[in-house]
Amino acid sequence: MMVFAMRNILLALTLSAGLFAQGQGGIRQLPDRKLWVIDTGLSTYVLGVNDRNELQFQHWGGRILRDEDLPPARSSAEWASFDSSQSRTAEEYPGWGGIRYIEPAVKITFPDGVRDLVLKYDSAGIGQNTLTVRLKDIERDVFVDVSYKVYPGTGVLAKSSVIENKTQQPILVESAQSGVWYMPRGTDYRMTHLYGRWAGETQLVREILKPGKKVIESRRGNTGAQFNPWFAIDAGDADENHGRVWFGALGWSGNWKITAETTSFQTTRVVGGFNDFDFGYKLSPGEKLKTPQFYGGYTDRGFGEASRILHRFERTEIAPDRAHPHVRPLLYNSWEATEFAVDEPGQSILADKAAKLGVEMFVMDDGWFGQRNDDHRGLGDWYVNQQKFPNGLKSLIDHVNSLGMKFGLWVEPEMVNPDSGLYRAHPDWAMHFPGRPRSEARNQLILNMARQDVKEHIFGVLDKLLTENRIAFLKWDMNRNFGEPGWPAVAPDEQKKLWVQYVRNLYEIIDRLRANHPGVEIESCSGGGGRVELGIMERVDQVWTSDNTEAFDRLKIQEGFSQVYPAKVMMAWVTDVPNMNGRSTPLKYRFLVAMQGSVGIGGNLNKWSAADMKLASDMVAQYKGIRDTVQQGDLYRLNSPRDPSGLTSNEYVSTDGKQAAIFAFYDHQQYGQEVPVVYPRGLDSSATYKLTPGQTTLSGSYLMNHGIQFKLTGDYDSTLLVLDRQ
Ligand code: GLA
Repeated sequence: MMVFAMRNILLALTLSAGLFAQGQGGIRQLPDRKLWVIDTGLSTYVLGVNDRNELQFQHWGGRILRDEDLPPARSSAEWASFDSSQSRTAEEYPGWGGIRYIEPAVKITFPDGVRDLVLKYDSAGIGQNTLTVRLKDIERDVFVDVSYKVYPGTGVLAKSSVIENKTQQPILVESAQSGVWYMPRGTDYRMTHLYGRWAGETQLVREILKPGKKVIESRRGNTGAQFNPWFAIDAGDADENHGRVWFGALGWSGNWKITAETTSFQTTRVVGGFNDFDFGYKLSPGEKLKTPQFYGGYTDRGFGEASRILHRFERTEIAPDRAHPHVRPLLYNSWEATEFAVDEPGQSILADKAAKLGVEMFVMDDGWFGQRNDDHRGLGDWYVNQQKFPNGLKSLIDHVNSLGMKFGLWVEPEMVNPDSGLYRAHPDWAMHFPGRPRSEARNQLILNMARQDVKEHIFGVLDKLLTENRIAFLKWDMNRNFGEPGWPAVAPDEQKKLWVQYVRNLYEIIDRLRANHPGVEIESCSGGGGRVELGIMERVDQVWTSDNTEAFDRLKIQEGFSQVYPAKVMMAWVTDVPNMNGRSTPLKYRFLVAMQGSVGIGGNLNKWSAADMKLASDMVAQYKGIRDTVQQGDLYRLNSPRDPSGLTSNEYVSTDGKQAAIFAFYDHQQYGQEVPVVYPRGLDSSATYKLTPGQTTLSGSYLMNHGIQFKLTGDYDSTLLVLDRQ
């Protein structure tokens, strides 16, 4: 339980130094030096109260096991009258006030025009793996609880804050960040992050941080495909397997911003939280604003280990099934096969064929409701289309269930087509500014889910759908971003709250649905990977990686995705060719690319030949044999699709070490060149492994040190090698 200690923490501190120095980690206090040491089990984070009573950063990096080595926090000296001590000191949570030019953690305008906020230490409390440090403005009753949560043994620490107005007047919060992460002093750090767009998500980019700011963000209302809220920073010398890497990921499905700022004093700091663009959150007296969780970690074992730390953390601490992780079902989805032309006979035939392949979840996509025959109409009218399903959904669901599969359904609850009954009844529910255009994208507008009535309506529609039908899975889509984000029903100075309230209500709806229907699982989709981060991932079981299902393009999309998120949540469908780019790859290649994540089949099975169906059943059977290893094991990215050799290779090792699966893809052979040797990792040197195919037995030491020469030729050749420990 959180105990808020008195003003003078020093009297209250009882934990002795070094108590948690070994093992899984935890939080310890060093009262004599006013420090807190947070040990994640794989890294140490140290902060303290400095000589000016400010909360100051001390260390983020490898584990520190001897507390005696840690000096107390000391503010940095002024450089000149132009560069104050305040601006140069590594404050954990600086307000915008005094003489500070660095990116602040919080900025406030008071009703009397004062825009100065100087936060000093007030009190602190330690709970079960949490530390909360309360800061207070030097004069006004504005408090900030800066929180640290450690997940012992995982290597991950989460920062967030709660800003509280205890004055008698409303205040306007103009920036509210989750926290600041500092790198050790140095120059030319590199930042790795993900950018993209629809059908080209999670592209990896690595760039040197020169003095100035590098900003990645979303101003789109949801997470966005343009950037993903994740960063990894290294000193320019890390690679996949070696080197120091500091990384962080935000959990917020709305406007977010991560700023990597390199000062003129060789300090690199990363500030992240709510995007401050168009931000203005009015806090009434007594009201609080909580910022998103900003997770961070450190490793000295390269980008590969940074990813593995995040994957493990997400599977065991974030995912809805975190208490009892289990593999994802193999699904079929109708979208690419039928688009909007769904009906009971057509879906039943696809279901028959999918069941024969070993599919476990049959998902009907867009087109089943209202007048939804194309993307011009119907969104908002969530009743079953009687022409297409004269018996309601029941008889299709019964049929799917009789084939031994569960049934899933596509919804896009936040949207409305102007050509819909819902819009005609409630035009004011769409996000808009009065008298201004309502710009459509894909012929649709966004319902202002920040409104209480809209939230309740959406919850009610979905709750009814799930109550009346045996639906095991929802694919929750969102096919456009915000535009004209007006909320005319509330006072002008409350309207910007929409950015935050919309997302809170999204979370509330999902949480309530899950509570009412505990068996139902959810996929987050926003035209592909537009809503993927740790906030939504606490609430959904999987995500749609990209609408681009072209297997060769997927290799890079998946490589980027895998930097942050585990294979288990990464939905990957096998679809028909020619696909995007007019490209055709062999069915086996398409399967193997998809088998590196959570597999779905999305082709039109009516067009698959007998040979295709046979190959597909074999691939599904193979996948089921390695599914646990791929989805819940450790990923080693052996050869990158960015590598000029044209060889991509990924290895998955099960958590018990009994199995490894190595995928290899060779895209364009030229001049008869053979592919480079692949060196597996993460095996037991002294163990022996049976190889399939081939049935030879080789030792871990031979495999890892001599490597494997795959025989791949031509275009889009691929293979899967399974190693079973003997
Ligand atoms: C989005 C999704 C697709 C499909 C369509 C349906 O584009 O990403 O998978 O569900 O909507 O309209």
